[in-house]
Amino acid sequence: MNDRIRSLADYKAAVEQSTIDPEGFWSGIAEQFQWMKPWEKTLEWDFDGPDVKWFIGGRLNITENCLDRHLEQRGNKLALIWEPNDPKERFVRLTYRELHEQVCRMANVLKRNGIQKGDRVAIYMPMVPELLVSVLACARIGAVHSVVFCGFSAQSLADRINDAEAVAVLTSDGMFRGNKEMPVKRVVDEALEHCPSVKRVLVHERVRWAVEMKEGRDAWLHEELQQVDANCPAEPMDSEDPLFILYTSGSTGKPKGVVHTCGGYMVYASYSFRNVFQMEESDIFWCTADVGWITGHSYMAYGPTLAGATQVMFEGVPTYPDAGRFWQVIDKHGVSVFYTAPTAIRSLMAAGLDHVLPYSLHSLRVLGSVGEPINEEAWHWYKSHIGKNRCPIVDTWWQTETGGILISSLAGITDEKPSHAAYPLPGIQPVLLTTEGKEITENEVEGLLCVKFPWPSILRTTWGDHERCRQTYFSSYKGHYFTGDGAKRDAEGRYRIIGRVDDVINVSGHRFGTAEIESAINTAKGVVESAVVGYPHDIKGQGIYAYVVTEKPLPAGDVKAAENMRGEIIEAVAAGIGRIAKPDKIQFVSGLPKTRSGKIMRRILRKVAENELGSLGDTSTLLDPAVVEEIKEGRL
Ligand code: PRX
Repeated sequence: MNDRIRSLADYKAAVEQSTIDPEGFWSGIAEQFQWMKPWEKTLEWDFDGPDVKWFIGGRLNITENCLDRHLEQRGNKLALIWEPNDPKERFVRLTYRELHEQVCRMANVLKRNGIQKGDRVAIYMPMVPELLVSVLACARIGAVHSVVFCGFSAQSLADRINDAEAVAVLTSDGMFRGNKEMPVKRVVDEALEHCPSVKRVLVHERVRWAVEMKEGRDAWLHEELQQVDANCPAEPMDSEDPLFILYTSGSTGKPKGVVHTCGGYMVYASYSFRNVFQMEESDIFWCTADVGWITGHSYMAYGPTLAGATQVMFEGVPTYPDAGRFWQVIDKHGVSVFYTAPTAIRSLMAAGLDHVLPYSLHSLRVLGSVGEPINEEAWHWYKSHIGKNRCPIVDTWWQTETGGILISSLAGITDEKPSHAAYPLPGIQPVLLTTEGKEITENEVEGLLCVKFPWPSILRTTWGDHERCRQTYFSSYKGHYFTGDGAKRDAEGRYRIIGRVDDVINVSGHRFGTAEIESAINTAKGVVESAVVGYPHDIKGQGIYAYVVTEKPLPAGDVKAAENMRGEIIEAVAAGIGRIAKPDKIQFVSGLPKTRSGKIMRRILRKVAENELGSLGDTSTLLDPAVVEEIKEGRL
């Protein structure tokens, strides 16, 4: 059987088959990969555990499927075009043969440094080819990679390293971002003061900074690479062995390590990539996400390489040297399939058409959007000014936990509608539930988005805490995976994602828990307590609004004192999480609206932040209703 959907009839047939016989459907797709040993049973599942296993007993190595498998037919095909931050710096091109060689060498460096199958390796690196190579090298030897986005602070990095008990960190001396040079190794050094499990640090030289190298722990990657050859057989892995951990925020406590396993993840990352984007052999794909997020895992490191596609990787930012950079890179490398986030589209839209018009963009064929709801205005701008009204837009809905795109139109095959992710992929069985957990079967409805049947890349656990996985995703509605999102379904069955229904804020497509931001704010000197909510933000989708109670009331009218306190709070968040989570608005209040049992009434705070002062609802049950008036008056 062929896994490619090429027409609406194919799509309908695949949906039907995958519903009637999911195991037959997915095993037919899985057969197209290279397995060292075939699986004995396709699926075992129980959402109560949760306990989900796909392709049981099978053995494989995902990198054989990403690399070795292509060498005969596509050895000289470009796998990677790396575009540096500075447009004047030479770009790098790697064929599949060259990428294979680099991954094997890097894998041998890992082995030489004592890293073994099952060990966890943290990767904290900017968007350089070595990042992609490192991810694949870990997979090659069966080490579990945990990529941490370079925007996270030393504290966040340390938390993630410690939770996974990583034995090694792969990093770089520093990084280029727009017109800035930023430290990377220094952040690692700071984190490692609190990470006893880390024995080795391997450093890629990018900015040529003098960095401190700790004797016995740190080594330069370029020196290590000279010590090894390019022969590294792929480690046989069980289908259900962990492939990677990726930390993501939830509504409570510290970020959790979402675990994906080798077999199912491989099958779904590849299937969803090829079909959603309708990839052709000659396409040049560009996903602008960082490898530090799930999009960079599934649709950079794995999806495109599994498909033998050519892809662009970009080190820089969309606005450097100016807001035309994305469009310039598309023309320069002939990008045909472009995948980005609504926040980037909105900020480039705000920069004006002068930055778009100098570029032809004629190579584009398909456009994609990911990470947050795309508003209609941005959708139309993307469609007409970037896609010139000839490119389909796929609005892809998914999550770190789902491993791949679950709801999206298939480019040019199923229809599209602005702001609608549209239809489930074959094999995906979404449902809308009422808050009482009753399935809503009609159309033109709204409910809580759940999935009632497993797909191959569903998360298997949260690292070191299976109970947390059960509680977070499988306990709210028995027999269902709960996404945390609310959604609508229109008359034709298209889904429109409304947004999170839990205490998670999506800022520029990045997920943060309000509790996580509050605990960072509360470490600032002079802060007693805080409450954080999201509010609509023109560019970021959601902004972060913090209400803060200080030890001593800030003198009325003392602008300087308030500014200093704000600075302290922002620094506390930068240190605790990273600058990416800094509050956009900080309002100082004398108290928070609480019920008599001490629970913060976030609903009220959310309404004030959204400037919906008329619909605060009943405030009479509050301990101190007067505080609401003060909060309303002081609204920023
Ligand atoms: O709220 C949904 C939103 O992003 C959340 C998942 O975040 P994360 O795990 O960081 O993964 C982002 C990239 C896949 C979801 O719960 N989200 C993601 N894609 C969309 C979206 N909201 C609306 N439309 C989308 N296309």
